[in-house]
Amino acid sequence: MPEAVKQYNRTAKLLHWASALLIIALFALGLWMVDLTYYSEWYNLAPYWHKSIGLCLFALTLFRIIWKQLTAAPDIEGEKWEVQGAKIAHFSLYLLLLCIFISGYMISTADGRSIELFNWLSVPGFGSFFENQEDIAGVIHYYLAVTLITLAVVHALAALKHHFINKDSTLNKMLRIKQQ
Ligand code: HEM
Ligand code: HEM
Repeated sequence: MPEAVKQYNRTAKLLHWASALLIIALFALGLWMVDLTYYSEWYNLAPYWHKSIGLCLFALTLFRIIWKQLTAAPDIEGEKWEVQGAKIAHFSLYLLLLCIFISGYMISTADGRSIELFNWLSVPGFGSFFENQEDIAGVIHYYLAVTLITLAVVHALAALKHHFINKDSTLNKMLRIKQQ
């Protein structure tokens, strides 16, 4: 049997930290942009950036999920309930993200418009599938985003607890640049 890996691979680490930064930025940008007035110079620009970065994160997340299936990851450390909890949390973080992408797409394309990816690519919209789609998808998008950030905070606190209290290698497996 091949020896078990002790670190997340370089690509997995890069994907994890880049995704975390993008998610926090998109959350802040989303909350800020919905309160802008028509007279702000950011009124059109901020949603344009939010949607473009959101689409990039979507592509990154699809690649990340495929990469996760193809490469080996280190074992999760801790008590049995902690290992189970971490697995459920990681799965939920991915699932929440995917639902946020779908609801974001449904807000943006409810009126039949496409989504521009940095003036480079246009993702077609198919209009509304049900009445008030824009508003309903908007509320769902908001609550899913708040749930994602709350779970990510719990997840980060769990990682810090493992590092400073249990003093195991949970955080180092996701941080250390050196490969085993
Ligand atoms: C494909 C990706 C995404 C698209 C197309 C998208 C699209 C949108 C749109 C159109 C709005 C404006 C909603 C409105 O006017 O009521 C919005 C708001 C928002 N988005 Fe996204 N989004 C995406 C990804 C994300 C991600 C990954 C997050 C972070 C967790 C996020 C967090 C938010 C937040 C917090 C708001 C403000 C909601 C509110 O206060 O009503 N979005 N998004
Ligand atoms: C929006 C923020 C974040 C999201 C969405 C997120 C998501 C994830 C996911 C899905 C995994 C599972 C591993 C994988 O599939 O590659 C993971 C692992 C991990 N994350 Fe995060 N993360 C976030 C922020 C953070 C922060 C701020 C920290 C540290 C303080 C952190 C520390 C870790 C560690 C140590 C692991 C490895 C856990 C183990 O194998 O036991 N994450 N993260």
